[in-house]
Amino acid sequence: MNQTPIDYNTAQEVIKSYNLSDFGHATIREVVAISTELETKTGTEFIHMEMGVPGLKAAQVGVEAEIKALENGIASVYPNINGAPEVKTEAARFIKAFIDIDISPEGCVPVTGSMQGTYASFLTCGQCTAGKDTILFIDPGFPVQKQQLIVMGYQHESFDVYEYRGEKLRGILESYLEKGNIAAVIYSNPNNPAWICLTEEELRIIGELATKYDTIVIEDLAYFAMDFRKPLGKPFEAPFQASVAKYTDNYILQISGSKAFSYAGQRIAITAISDKLYHRQFDGLTKRYGGGTFGSVYIHRVLYALSSGTSHSAQLALAAMFKAASDGQFDFVSEVQEYGKRAEKLKKIFTDNGFTIVYNQDLDQPIADGFYFTIAYPGMTGGKLMEELIYYGISAISLSTTGSHQEGLRACTSFIKPHQYDLLKERLKLFKSNHSL
Ligand SMILES: Cc1ncc(COP(=O)(O)O)c(C=O)c1O
Repeated sequence: MNQTPIDYNTAQEVIKSYNLSDFGHATIREVVAISTELETKTGTEFIHMEMGVPGLKAAQVGVEAEIKALENGIASVYPNINGAPEVKTEAARFIKAFIDIDISPEGCVPVTGSMQGTYASFLTCGQCTAGKDTILFIDPGFPVQKQQLIVMGYQHESFDVYEYRGEKLRGILESYLEKGNIAAVIYSNPNNPAWICLTEEELRIIGELATKYDTIVIEDLAYFAMDFRKPLGKPFEAPFQASVAKYTDNYILQISGSKAFSYAGQRIAITAISDKLYHRQFDGLTKRYGGGTFGSVYIHRVLYALSSGTSHSAQLALAAMFKAASDGQFDFVSEVQEYGKRAEKLKKIFTDNGFTIVYNQDLDQPIADGFYFTIAYPGMTGGKLMEELIYYGISAISLSTTGSHQEGLRACTSFIKPHQYDLLKERLKLFKSNHSL
């Protein structure tokens, strides 16, 4: 056994000091804290693949619009809770340009990140109809969304889509929906953590069943247009970002500024509620709030109670980024394509050293290269692999925290620096030789 880059005893000591019952279930923040502490203690650089933070510069067109808005003095007044007309109009236009869906500006509502968008959506969906009180996750998924449900005391159910791709999705999804308790179904597409992309056929199945069982689909497009296998960056030209909105009227889209525009710090996203859902009345909402439609309750009751709107300047930044993208002046897809290039190189280094890609196919097509990918090592559980890689100065999170039933890790490409490819190669070579002894 050759000496690992991070001393075994030091790593053990630091991990133990966090008093975790199972390191394999450590949260992203805990992995960050442990790896950063080890980095300081040992003076050895870590290859950080645990955090899903954008690693690129914020889109300049947004920054400029935001500065201008502040200089024009908007900071002193409360923002309109419905959203600034500019961002509502540009959001609807952006959705037409890049998804090819018609939606009224009225239903495009700015929120303080899609974190708030999903929180408000879960809350409202769960109040519409008595007995429909559970949120269904098509997993693997973004762990914080389950945390949101725990905070609000809602029920959730989930299944790992790994075994249920294509037409198989219909049976499993229907088995949950037919019970009648599912208020909403949520998934992200492209998927965090697996980077699978649901196909048009799968989205059609979800849409058809949502209509049949009167369930709302919350489609989380945090990684908008990042299926880099297709040229999705040309406004008003096919191919478009795939969406369930083509197959049902029961939808809410979450379109975040965080990853597509590297604008995570300003906490800005759009919740886009379909025209039909926006204007629909539900008994549960009427009883609780004395009236209103899904859209008006979402904005004037729920968002009002949560944050009383979203900062003006971030809204105007998003409006400017949407506009520039729809006008064909800002090729946001090319900017984020960097993540795909990194994933391609990183996946090769891992697979050259005995690792496998866990979620590797979208039916008959290899998955895209993008923000995340998933890895496994033969004979090792996800938790064990996560701990082992710490000794090699590589940090990632276990898939078990994401609702996945597969053994493996999620690796994120966003923090990788150019010199780290060689470092990763060297460390994984050592890992491989130590594990084949
Ligand atoms: C699937 C998914 N949804 C939502 C978010 C959060 O987005 P926002 O920054 O807009 O709140 C993330 C961020 O990592 C994500 O991965």
